[in-house]
Amino acid sequence: MGPAAPLLAWLLALGPLRLGAAPPDTRKCDPQEALIVGGTSKLQKEGQVLVYQCPEGQFPYPTPLRQCRANSRWSPLIARDGRTLAKAECRAIQCPGPVDFENGHFHPRQPRYNISQTLTFECFEGYTLWGPHNRTCLPNGKWSGETTVCDDGEGQCRDPGIPIGARKDGKNYRVEDRVRYTCQRGLGMFGSKERTCLESGAWSGTEPECRDKSTYDTPQEVSAAFIASLSETAEVADANRTFSESVKRRIRIQPGGSMNIYLVLDASDSVGEGKFSHARNALLQLIEKISSYGVFPHYGIVTFATFAHTVVRTFDPESSDADWVINKLGELQYAKHSLQAGTNTRRALETVYNMMITQEQIEKRSGHKQAPVINSTRHVLILMTDGNTNMGGSPVPVVNQIRELLSIGRDIHNPREDYLDIYVFGIGALVNQESIAELASKKPDEKHTFHLEKIQDLEETFQNMIDESETLSMCGLSLSHKTATPLEKNPWHISIKVARPGKGVESCKGALVSPYFVLTAAHCFDINDQAHWITVDVGKTTSNKVVSLFSHPDYNIGKLRSERISEFYDYDVALVKLEKRVTFSPETRPICLPCTEGTTRALRRPHPKTSCQDHERQLLKVGDVPSFFVHEKKPALERKEVLIKNGPKKWACQADAKKATIYVNVTDVAQVVTPRFLCTGGIEPVVDPNTCKGDSGGPLIITQNRRYIQVGVISWGVFDVCNLKNKGKVPPYARDFHLNLFTVLPWLKEKLAEEQLGFL
Ligand SMILES: *[C@@H]1O[C@H](CO)[C@@H](O)[C@H](O)[C@H]1NC(C)=O
Ligand SMILES: *[C@@H]1O[C@H](CO)[C@@H](O)[C@H](O)[C@H]1NC(C)=O
Ligand SMILES: *[C@@H]1O[C@H](CO)[C@@H](O)[C@H](O)[C@H]1NC(C)=O
Ligand SMILES: *[C@@H]1O[C@H](CO)[C@@H](O)[C@H](O)[C@H]1NC(C)=O
Ligand SMILES: *[C@@H]1O[C@H](CO)[C@@H](O)[C@H](O)[C@H]1NC(C)=O
Repeated sequence: MGPAAPLLAWLLALGPLRLGAAPPDTRKCDPQEALIVGGTSKLQKEGQVLVYQCPEGQFPYPTPLRQCRANSRWSPLIARDGRTLAKAECRAIQCPGPVDFENGHFHPRQPRYNISQTLTFECFEGYTLWGPHNRTCLPNGKWSGETTVCDDGEGQCRDPGIPIGARKDGKNYRVEDRVRYTCQRGLGMFGSKERTCLESGAWSGTEPECRDKSTYDTPQEVSAAFIASLSETAEVADANRTFSESVKRRIRIQPGGSMNIYLVLDASDSVGEGKFSHARNALLQLIEKISSYGVFPHYGIVTFATFAHTVVRTFDPESSDADWVINKLGELQYAKHSLQAGTNTRRALETVYNMMITQEQIEKRSGHKQAPVINSTRHVLILMTDGNTNMGGSPVPVVNQIRELLSIGRDIHNPREDYLDIYVFGIGALVNQESIAELASKKPDEKHTFHLEKIQDLEETFQNMIDESETLSMCGLSLSHKTATPLEKNPWHISIKVARPGKGVESCKGALVSPYFVLTAAHCFDINDQAHWITVDVGKTTSNKVVSLFSHPDYNIGKLRSERISEFYDYDVALVKLEKRVTFSPETRPICLPCTEGTTRALRRPHPKTSCQDHERQLLKVGDVPSFFVHEKKPALERKEVLIKNGPKKWACQADAKKATIYVNVTDVAQVVTPRFLCTGGIEPVVDPNTCKGDSGGPLIITQNRRYIQVGVISWGVFDVCNLKNKGKVPPYARDFHLNLFTVLPWLKEKLAEEQLGFL
């Protein structure tokens, strides 16, 4: 055999590279010879790899996959004790047991624990217990809670503890003392092998984690941990919200600084076209998520297999335009890589490294200040892979090159660690947990390595992030997955009841716009109505008390009586103030109002450069504008899609107002259809659904970037489609009129002044 370099060149020239580096078709293994007891198996990599799948709560023992060897035999099954097994089997997932626990005891003592078994810890006299007393074995083979520690308070750093499944070497906890960790045989290590007691009293690096190869992170765990790093949201709607310091320093973009986010996506042939699109969807959600925070980083997108392919470069002029980036991602062709089997992670990271250097040169040439990319840009690298690095060599030296370029970790007094974050998402059985853990950043109390079971979990992960509690106070967000409840999908939905003594109860709808206020129609109330007759249902809490009612001062239903028009709905808008502040939850969240900072962020417009007119231009474009209202049909909340006639069809829409029975005496529609209304309904260009009497006061909503912005309040209709008499015969002139919120902004701004909505 010749020297290594020509061999590598030969392999590269070959193009498609198989696991194990043999040319195709020279070996063929029979999957029937490697069945698993109690599970199923699936061929991957053109029959070269067999991946086992087990029912929930079980894992394939002793290995999740088999490789086809050159002799056309499957790789052998080596048990934990070193013996060779004849058959793989699905075994119950268990949690590893503690190897060692200092200064206290725990029970029960077993080598391994069944799911939902509990471990209880106690400390000896004189030691303080930190962390949980009890820990439970979770269905994915991990223990609940953090590491329990018994500390005597003597060290400058607190006893770092011994994670379950690990051994610790080192018992002194003064500044610069080190502890080293190893994992029990058979368990793989995530996190830092060695930690140093720092002057701050914290330990360097990340706590190690010893886990079974069969252990995956759940989408919930991943989104919670990942979001902790991404959640410096620039979101200030809730002034009382506090961030921990470690979270705070994250995504904060310093004045004059900027952020680059590199999305590096494995597209090798094992991924497959279907899975590739799941990964792409996950990334789309991530970009949506980031821009929903009002953060506008420069994106770089690289896909890789045997070679790397740059999709978006951080120095492309549009690289911080989320819509443009999302488009580019949408156009991404899996076929570009589909004949390449290799997973050349090193090449992918080199592409990112070169992108940093090129961007730096370009910015320097254009006369920007010194070293903007290298010295004042934060770099976030998100790598998604489903395979081992099986070619190109170790990517770790490239990570070190990047750190060197960005002067990270060079100067103890200014380590600049927060200028680079590398997150690695490994997906599926082919991933080598330890090799991905090696690539990822290691920072105190933060997690950068994730191992998910299926690519679909990645999509769910990022979907979860859109919904995490940190963003509950952000306007116009809702859950959208299939199993979300009606209220989770429409969390701003409010029912209003007015119980007039001796007169029965009347009901209306409204929209939650802030922790204290519900926006509805003025005609839901009489001039004499008292606030204490009104109650509102918010999410699951019914009959919330109301302290004040504000109808628009220009609303006057009887204003045109002298002209023989008994009902007039101009300025049909009201605000109801609740006695108690609403606690936001997935079922209770505010909708966005036009001309607020929340809407600027929802529209992904730069703040504060965006004006109210910009909102109106973007939301109420000339033409037929897609929107929807919500019709309550207990327990369902049906979204009804309608077109706001805001172009050539507007006049015909408004003219039909004369066909309303209440407006037989109207001579000119302009008398009753003032400039304050938006018109929906009719049969052109499509048949719009109509509102019913009970829908009054509810919001007319426009969706942009998966955010919901209220533009109107349902006011009146030409024809009541829900009246039983009218059932089944909806005339083409059935039109609905909605109060246009853009026309009552000064009043909204005044009444909502204390709600910190940031009116423009
Ligand atoms: C754990 O589960 C196995 C069977 O799944 C059972 O035989 C064993 O008794 C259980 N151990 C404990 C401590 O519950
Ligand atoms: C721990 O679990 C035991 C039973 O397993 C229970 O009696 C005890 O209250 C629990 N302790 C704590 C602090 O939850
Ligand atoms: C913040 O919390 C304090 C005390 O809990 C409360 O009085 C105050 O109204 C809150 N402020 C906001 C903006 O919610
Ligand atoms: C960037 O920052 C590092 C450390 O703060 C400094 O040593 C280096 O000179 C700076 N480089 C440039 C080009 O400004
Ligand atoms: C139309 O005007 C007549 C009087 O001229 C009045 O009796 C009737 O109530 C009016 N109709 C409506 C719907 O206002």
